[in-house]
Amino acid sequence: MKLFDVYPLMDVVPVSANGCYITDKNGVRYLDLYGGHAVISIGHSHPHYIRRIKEQLDNIGFYSNSVVNPLQQELAQKLGELSGLEQYNLFLCNSGAEANENALKVASFVTGKKRVVAFSKAFHGRTSAAVGVTDNETIRSALNNDHDVTFLPLNDTEAVKRELEKGDVCAVIIEGIQGIGGINIPEDVFLQDLQRLCRKYDCKLILDEIQSGYGRSGRFFAFQEANIQPDIVTTAKGMANGFPIGGVLIHPDIKPWYGMLGSTFGGNYLACAAALAVLEVIDAESLIANAAATGNFLLSELRKINGIKAVRGRGLMIGLEFESPVKPLREKLLKEKHIFTGVSSSNIIRLLPPLRLTIDEAMIFLQALKSLLAP
Ligand SMILES: Cc1ncc(COP(=O)(O)O)c(C=O)c1O
Repeated sequence: MKLFDVYPLMDVVPVSANGCYITDKNGVRYLDLYGGHAVISIGHSHPHYIRRIKEQLDNIGFYSNSVVNPLQQELAQKLGELSGLEQYNLFLCNSGAEANENALKVASFVTGKKRVVAFSKAFHGRTSAAVGVTDNETIRSALNNDHDVTFLPLNDTEAVKRELEKGDVCAVIIEGIQGIGGINIPEDVFLQDLQRLCRKYDCKLILDEIQSGYGRSGRFFAFQEANIQPDIVTTAKGMANGFPIGGVLIHPDIKPWYGMLGSTFGGNYLACAAALAVLEVIDAESLIANAAATGNFLLSELRKINGIKAVRGRGLMIGLEFESPVKPLREKLLKEKHIFTGVSSSNIIRLLPPLRLTIDEAMIFLQALKSLLAP
C-alpha cells in the first residue's frame, strides 16, 4: 500500500527537535518558523510537557468518555482562567475540523436554522471568486451536505446584514486572523458589527481561533482585541503542542443536554495532560507576552526590508506578501539557510513559529531573508 498523496512535502526527515529547532536524519539543524502548521506553541520537546505525558502514560493513558476524567475539569478550569472566558463551557474533541463541526451543530440545534455565513479573502468584493473560494476548506468540509454556506468578503458589514435579514442563518463563522489566503485581520469594528447583527437576527457568532488562538496573536485569543464575546470559540492546533485535541468553548447562555454532542476520543487523558502542560508552560514562561514582543519586533523589521510587497499579522502570526510566487524563496530558506517557513497562498510566506521564539532567533531569519532578497 502507498500513502494517499495529498501533501506537498518538504524533503526533510526530522529525528529530534528542541525549542525552536528541528534536527533531521543527516544531522542538519533547522530553525522552525512554521511549527508544523501552528501546532508547536510552547516549543519542541519541552521537559514539563514530556513529563506530564509520561506521567499519564504510567497511570491510565487512555479511556473514553464513559467515566469521570478529572483532567478534563482541570483543563477547563485552567483554560477559563488564562483565556478570561471563565463562564464558558468546554466541549473536547480531537481536531480543528471537529471543533468547527461541533460548533456549527450547536448553532444549528439552538437556533433551529441551517445556513452559515463564512468569509473568504475579499478579492474584489462580492465576486464569484470571493463567494466561491473559501480560505478555509475545513469550514466547507465541516458543512458538507448538512449546511448551506454563503461566503462573503471580510469586513463588509452590509453584506452580512443582507444575509442575516433573510432569517435562515444559524451561524456566522470567522477566523480571529485568517490563516490561509493571506493573514487577513478582521477589523475590530467588523467583529463588533457581527456580534450586534448575530444578536439581532438570532444567529450564533463562532470565532475560529484554531490557528490564531492560544497566544499566537499576542493575546490569548485574537478576537479579544475587539472586545467582543462570541457565542462559540473553537480551538485546536497549538492547544496541546501537537498532540491531537480540539476544543469548543460555549457561552453559558447555550445550555447542553445529554447526547447533544459526543466524541469517543475527545478529552482523553493523554490529550488533557498535554493540553494542561501547554497552558502551564504558557503561564509560567509568559509566552503570550513573548509572542507579542518578538512578533512586534519581527513585524517592524520586516517592514523595513526592500522587496516585500506587504507585511501583515499580529504577534507570531505573520504573512509576507511578494509580487511573485514564493516557492523558490522558501526553497532557498530551507536548503541554504535551514529555516522552515509556510505559505498562505502562492505569493505569501506564512510564519507561525513557537511562541517562545527569541529576538536572536528572529534576527537569524531577518538576516537570512535580507541576504536572499539582496539584489
Ligand atoms: C483556521 C482553521 N480552522 C480549522 C482548521 C482545521 O483544523 P484540523 O486540521 O485540526 O482539522 C484549520 C487547519 O488548518 C485552520 O487553520
